[in-house]
Amino acid sequence: MDLKIALLAGDGIGPEVIDQAVKVSDAIAKKFNHTIEWTPALTGAAAIDAVGDPYPEETHQTCLDADAVLFGAIGHPRFDNDPSAKVRPEQGLLKMRQKLGLFANVRPTFTFPSLLDKSPLKQERIEGTDLVFLRELTGGIYFGKRGRLNEGHTAFDTCTYTRDEIQRLAKKGFELAMTRSKKLCCVDKANVLESSRLWRETVQAMEKEYPEVKVSYEFVDAVAMRLVQWPNSYDVLITENLFGDILTDEASVISGSMGLMPSASVGTENALYEPIHGSFPQATGLGIANPLATVLSAAMMFEMSFGLTEEGAIIRKVVDQSLADGVVTEDLKENGDKGNSTSEVGDYLVSKILE
Ligand code: IPM
Ligand code: MG
Repeated sequence: MDLKIALLAGDGIGPEVIDQAVKVSDAIAKKFNHTIEWTPALTGAAAIDAVGDPYPEETHQTCLDADAVLFGAIGHPRFDNDPSAKVRPEQGLLKMRQKLGLFANVRPTFTFPSLLDKSPLKQERIEGTDLVFLRELTGGIYFGKRGRLNEGHTAFDTCTYTRDEIQRLAKKGFELAMTRSKKLCCVDKANVLESSRLWRETVQAMEKEYPEVKVSYEFVDAVAMRLVQWPNSYDVLITENLFGDILTDEASVISGSMGLMPSASVGTENALYEPIHGSFPQATGLGIANPLATVLSAAMMFEMSFGLTEEGAIIRKVVDQSLADGVVTEDLKENGDKGNSTSEVGDYLVSKILE
């Protein structure tokens, strides 16, 4: 198969972890006789520095022309403490999500048997955890009306949803639930928010189309609590943009490290794959960033964009092997053990694939 992939390395550790995902994908292509055409493009702070725009039109065209987008990370501390900055790297990510119509963010949380002791939660609580959030990604308070009133002394952001936006996300949730344990949790704050009441009403009306799926409706604050108490009681969860942002960060550390969980953003044009973690600016260039989340994002890309499930399964298998063999970066080591470098982990994965 010929795969055309846009490569958006972004900021901070983005380029280092992306390099490993490229090496791994190329090894998979070699093994299975695929050809991958990578087209790099600028995004984030790197793009602001080069052309003054965190998601330039040229990058957008590259994404549109590609079958899939592999993305590293975005964000730079020089913008974080400057609330007056006119352009910010994160705007690039939001613009990209919107312009590519990436309305569904798929964020799994699963555990690795060899890492159960690395989790901040007790082992018996997390064993068997395998859940997926579907976070709505192009609506809600992220994209609602915002502004200042009262000479700048009052500020507001608004959360708006249409029935259609909720339906297309919920449809993906029901469909995914059908392929898994047929359990779907709709996360909202319907006891307070009108937009949440529309979510609940819309999802309730869809239940009859999927009679086999058992739907639960839970408030976001209760879910935040139960996620750390009984993460393995959840399977597929659907939620709006901001709730999903917060809950998926909470869920991402259950597996033992920020550096492990992949994600996909799917939509109307094509799909984008990226690690859940951020740009980890303090670690830039040090070769200590864990590449596994990005490598697993490439696995999701093979599976979801190209239906290449065997390829994806091999990537997951060699990742498991590197964890079991202790060929891992320092976030997964103890007692000051420096562990392996980012590229050593990548090389190890490649060698196992080509073995
Ligand atoms: C994420 C990030 C982004 C978000 C930021 C960088 C804009 O936190 O992908 O979860 O809030 O969506
Ligand atoms: Mg986030």
